Amino acid sequence: MRFRPLGRTGLNVSELSYGAARGADSPNDFDAAVHAAINAGINLIDTAEGYGESEQALGRALAGHDDVLVETKHLPYDSFAPWAKFTGTPATVIASAEQSLRRLRRDRIDIFLGHGMRTVESYDRFMQDGCYEAMVKLRDQGKVRYIGISELSEADGTHSVLNRAVPSGAFDVVMLTVNFLLPSAIYDLLPLCRQHGVGTVVMMPLNQASKESGLISVPAARECVRRHIERTNLPDEPPYTSPDLFDFLEPYSIPEAALRFVLAQAIDTVCFGARSPQRIQENLRAMDPPYLDADRLDRLRSLFGSIQNQVR
Ligand SMILES: NC(=O)c1ccc[n+]([C@@H]2O[C@H](COP(=O)([O-])OP(=O)(O)OC[C@H]3O[C@@H](n4cnc5c(N)ncnc54)[C@H](OP(=O)(O)O)[C@@H]3O)[C@@H](O)[C@H]2O)c1
Repeated sequence: MRFRPLGRTGLNVSELSYGAARGADSPNDFDAAVHAAINAGINLIDTAEGYGESEQALGRALAGHDDVLVETKHLPYDSFAPWAKFTGTPATVIASAEQSLRRLRRDRIDIFLGHGMRTVESYDRFMQDGCYEAMVKLRDQGKVRYIGISELSEADGTHSVLNRAVPSGAFDVVMLTVNFLLPSAIYDLLPLCRQHGVGTVVMMPLNQASKESGLISVPAARECVRRHIERTNLPDEPPYTSPDLFDFLEPYSIPEAALRFVLAQAIDTVCFGARSPQRIQENLRAMDPPYLDADRLDRLRSLFGSIQNQVR
């Protein structure tokens, strides 16, 4: 395993981290996947109060693994929808962290994030109505080590919330989307994070793949490109419409190339979701500096570098 410093936190995190958003409804498989990630040297696992049984299952799976860092989140909205109503209050922030501590069976949360901050307006309310102060209080009390926010990239493909939050100096860590079909953070936001010493945990490296669409296979990646064409984010012409669009990535598979693309950027850790030990092992192959050669990086940038909306 290879490690990188997480911003100015003083933590060293594995280049690949594990996203425990899915799979907790099948406890044996979930335990096997979490243990495979830990055995591979992954030392950071991401979860959230809003991921069903994930925190409880992780609490069980992590018994005896106190050295593994846990990142969890509080959702200050009434749903995950881009149009959700902001409902955060200082009391709900505190209660959420305390419930997460109980579910995770820990006396300290390593990284605590405001989850899915989707508009500058609701972010400003979070900062001004006491929610942020509540996070600082949790950190001062030692219940939380580091604080941050995650974005909702499907609502904010240009990262306007994080572009505002990062220079404020308020946060230790941010969780953001970077993948080769949404590379917009690479140009301004990642340099800003470096400048301010803010740790970067990348989510959705495979564009939050489903069976039909995402960076998990050639057909699923082409379907994602087709959806971009439909929304006029990409032109309806070759090479975007060609069956051989992704041939230049060979011999890498689409998921391996996608992980290599993110690892080649100035990010601290790439958080991927996968529900089987075999898939975790497959994804570890991407940890092979310099990850992706300049020709393939340039080609991906010239094909998809202008995309500013996430389409899944
Ligand atoms: N706003 C936020 O804060 C936010 C939003 C989204 C995600 N996250 C976090 O980021 C983590 C990662 O994002 P994600 O899980 O949504 O998306 P992802 O890692 O882009 O994709 C996960 C999907 O890709 C599949 N997959 C993984 N490796 C594969 C491979 N080598 N070949 C084929 N398929 C593969 C997985 O399938 P299987 O599950 O079947 O193995 C799963 O369906 C999440 O677990 C979550 O912790 C945070």
